Amino acid sequence: NWSMDDFIDLQIEHIRKEVGDKKVLLGLSGGVDSSVVGVLLHKAIGKQLTSIFVDHGLLRKNEAQQVMDSLVGKFGLNIIKVDAQDRFLSKLKGVVDPEKKRKIIGNEFIQVFNDEARKLDGIDFLAQGTLYTDVVESGTDTAQTIKSHHNVGGLPEDMKFKLIEPLNTLFKDEAREIGEKLGMPEQLVWRQPFPGPGLGIRVLGEVTPEKLRIVRDSDWVLRDEIAKAGLDHDIWQYFTVLPGFRSVGVMGDGRTYDYTIAIRAVNSVDGMTADFAKIPWNVLQDVSTRIVNEVDGINRVVYDVTSKPPATIEWE
Ligand code: XMP
Repeated sequence: NWSMDDFIDLQIEHIRKEVGDKKVLLGLSGGVDSSVVGVLLHKAIGKQLTSIFVDHGLLRKNEAQQVMDSLVGKFGLNIIKVDAQDRFLSKLKGVVDPEKKRKIIGNEFIQVFNDEARKLDGIDFLAQGTLYTDVVESGTDTAQTIKSHHNVGGLPEDMKFKLIEPLNTLFKDEAREIGEKLGMPEQLVWRQPFPGPGLGIRVLGEVTPEKLRIVRDSDWVLRDEIAKAGLDHDIWQYFTVLPGFRSVGVMGDGRTYDYTIAIRAVNSVDGMTADFAKIPWNVLQDVSTRIVNEVDGINRVVYDVTSKPPATIEWE
């Protein structure tokens, strides 16, 4: 009957013994799991850890900066941040098929990571934020056949690393608890699920900088209003989606012909099934008003009232 404190102490001891005076590389995604591994490893082996954070330009507003501020600023991790927005956007140019988009983003992620990793010398270990559920799921593969997930990356053959996966006996909530015990900020540890392909699958069809701006800014407004209403711990996941069609509206004296944004908010335990969240009308009204006023190019807001199944949580 061990506690999370014991877990941390044991892991630190174990990591130190295994790594010795060698060097470890970690791929940071901005998500909970890899961030917790980063802080844990840094505590265990300090400067022997180098992290690579690939910013694919599909993160939410201010997200990359928050990760850097916290992990570098507060915890002192050595992070190589790669600004790869242009690389991803050019690869996604003209691509509309959801599965193709997912594959391109996943592959490019690995490419960018590997390009950076190759520049580093003398790395023996690769750390990953694999959870117990990831281990189990890669065995069954049912979820992956509906939408390809790219969380478990592939490595080029010429790079031979030994794997370190300190969280691979833990469930998500336990990983979060470890993060809290390590002093990580609540907003990083308890963040809602966010898909690897990021906003790239919340802009339906072709991803363009303009459409990314719309989905990013509207998502920001939604999160702000949900937080203000005190609902941010009650709703499992909430975000906006840009379907990409235009409709007629009226603003002031003029006719508009602009995009519609959809709000998706669900409650779920594990993401396998979900109910649409019953957000109070007045909160939705405030969200709608602010999005239309603050986000250029939007003249209509709709609310997704479908559960999963039959719909999935993400629209792509
Ligand atoms: P769906 O859309 O399949 O989503 O109902 C279920 C949950 O999984 C998240 N999701 C992903 N998470 N990599 C991830 O780490 C991915 O590629 C990915 N695609 C979807 C989604 O946000 C929801 O929480």
